[in-house]
Amino acid sequence: MRAWDDLYPLPVPPSWVPGAAVGILSLHFIQKLLFPYFWADLRYLLKVVTYGLRVEMYRLQGRVVTVLDKFVKLAEKQPHKPFLIYEGTVHSYQDVDRRSNRIAQVFLQHEALKKGDTVALLMGNEPDFIHVWFGLAKLGCVVAFLNFNVRLRSLLHCVSSCEPKILVVGADLLGTLEEILPNLQKDVSVWIMTKDSTLPSVHTLLDKIEAASEDPVPVNRCSANNLKSAVLYIFTSGTTGLPKAAVISHMQVLKGAAGLWAFGATAEDIIYITLPLYHSAASLLGIGGCIELGATCVLKKKFSASQFWSDCRRYNVTVIQYIGELCRYLCNQPVKEGEKNHKVRLAVGNGVRNDVWREFLDRFGAVKICEFYGATEGNICFMNHTGKIGSVGRTNFFYKLFFPFDLIKYDFQKDEPIRNKHGWCEKVKKGEAGLLISKVNAKNPFFGYAGNKRHTEKKLLCDVFKKGDLYFNTGDLMVQDHDNFLYFWDRIGDTFRWKGENVATTEVSDVLVMLDFIQEANVYGVSVPDHEGKAGMASVILKQNTSLDLEQTYKQVVTYLPSYACPLFLRVQEKMEMTGTFKQQKFRLVDEGFNPSTITDPLYFLDNSKKAYVSLTKEVHEMILSGKMKL
Ligand SMILES: *[C@@H]1O[C@H](CO)[C@@H](O)[C@H](O)[C@H]1NC(C)=O
Ligand SMILES: *[C@@H]1O[C@H](CO)[C@@H](O)[C@H](O)[C@H]1NC(C)=O
Ligand SMILES: *[C@@H]1O[C@H](CO)[C@@H](O)[C@H](O)[C@H]1NC(C)=O
Repeated sequence: MRAWDDLYPLPVPPSWVPGAAVGILSLHFIQKLLFPYFWADLRYLLKVVTYGLRVEMYRLQGRVVTVLDKFVKLAEKQPHKPFLIYEGTVHSYQDVDRRSNRIAQVFLQHEALKKGDTVALLMGNEPDFIHVWFGLAKLGCVVAFLNFNVRLRSLLHCVSSCEPKILVVGADLLGTLEEILPNLQKDVSVWIMTKDSTLPSVHTLLDKIEAASEDPVPVNRCSANNLKSAVLYIFTSGTTGLPKAAVISHMQVLKGAAGLWAFGATAEDIIYITLPLYHSAASLLGIGGCIELGATCVLKKKFSASQFWSDCRRYNVTVIQYIGELCRYLCNQPVKEGEKNHKVRLAVGNGVRNDVWREFLDRFGAVKICEFYGATEGNICFMNHTGKIGSVGRTNFFYKLFFPFDLIKYDFQKDEPIRNKHGWCEKVKKGEAGLLISKVNAKNPFFGYAGNKRHTEKKLLCDVFKKGDLYFNTGDLMVQDHDNFLYFWDRIGDTFRWKGENVATTEVSDVLVMLDFIQEANVYGVSVPDHEGKAGMASVILKQNTSLDLEQTYKQVVTYLPSYACPLFLRVQEKMEMTGTFKQQKFRLVDEGFNPSTITDPLYFLDNSKKAYVSLTKEVHEMILSGKMKL
């Protein structure tokens, strides 16, 4: 394990004692030397505390002010200011307010929705995603954002896990809907964003929106009485199993919405959102953040590396949202003239690696990169409020008072936290990688997942340092250096990230073992040079007297899995190794990777250009490493 000490040496305190004469000056000097981040820390902390106080004040006054309330206020205050720009069309604050009213009216009229009922939303990035979301929120419903890459069995699982009364589907996802419609629970009422439909028992929404009134619905419908009540379900892979619906409260929406503001964005900013809205980054930080500021956002259906900077120039974008992959794709684009000719000043996101970070700044100019860390369902977040390449944030004494967290020792082989002989977990030393856990208490609650209590319990660690304490297990390994900067290290457990999405290994292996020649499948992620995240690899055991049918395997994975979850590599093993606790042994497999020169088992590679699994020869391996083969 690499220690961070050599990279970020501890400042050495001066050996001389400052004389009285040097007075204030030397105090300032010492402060700079010993606490170089004092002012940055203080400024940031003050911001966090002010925001917290404001929310607390509302609470004391018995007023609950949600992000939606803020939006409605803005629609009165600045009705004609652009809120959303999509494919060149401007939707003002008033436009969005009125159209969401119409949607609320339609459902008020046609459905017996109660406050607190769940509505699932299956839609790509488009203005109506936001209209439906706000419209239903105005009725006091909990909106569940479905990932539109997920299909069939997994999608059905997602829908049923949040028990919606209604499912609203975008016009471009009718194919996905048709696949699940026969198996959808009969008590879910399905609405699609079209004017007419040939599907039986499906309601059309577009025609009814046009006929509906744009008056607001009665105010008692949406007014929240508790900031801790649920408003959204956002699906995450957590660390185990199929996607789970994380319960998002008003409080978390408010916190997410404060992100851009905390990083220094203002009402004059124009925010470019290319990430999918079903993730919290785009919906809570992006759209929510835009409302918190009263700013404008430019929404993109899908991220496009070739159009990125021309869009930024065309719309005078000043703030962009990123994930590590996105920065890398932008850096991989052919160099063009005038790449620094844009107005982008802030980039907010996570997962960019040091080398990409540096290259990005070199090529695209002095953009202030603001890394943050925070799990959708987690109760902790970090921000790089001082500016250190690679770091996701910084902590200090005060921050820890507000957000108690620890990094604990982790056993990679057994895949669990290390307990000492007394049964307690132990903190790692500075510079060592440890599992990030954050304390769960009244101030930092964890709202759990919809439906299944077991999932919620699995994310919690109890009796960590003393009897009865409770921690949220983030599933992320982090390193804290001597300057208290935090660095992301790796993910643990049964998920890995690829192309900005979480892949749940059990979901992939479930799909593989549906094939009648596969006895068992062990799925994990392997590192590929110059790629963010981990590429999926499946080690399979075949049933007796059968052989691996590559064509059928290919068909199976592309039909049942989103493209980012299809295993890129297959390995055929004679027998599966188990850990002492009968968990599949992944540690060694991950370590061995996909190198045909060192692995004697048959290896295959998913060649997207050939739409097939092909033998992973030394030549293919070489092409993958050199970047000639696209993954
Ligand atoms: C972008 O800014 C320029 C100069 O400030 C201005 O002339 C132009 O109209 C702006 N474009 C848009 C789409 O707002
Ligand atoms: C985060 O770090 C980068 C790189 O050093 C720095 O440029 C940026 O200013 C930092 N972000 C904030 C909000 O200070
Ligand atoms: C596999 O084939 C062998 C020899 O042909 C046979 O003896 C054995 O029963 C077969 N096993 C299974 C599970 O079909």
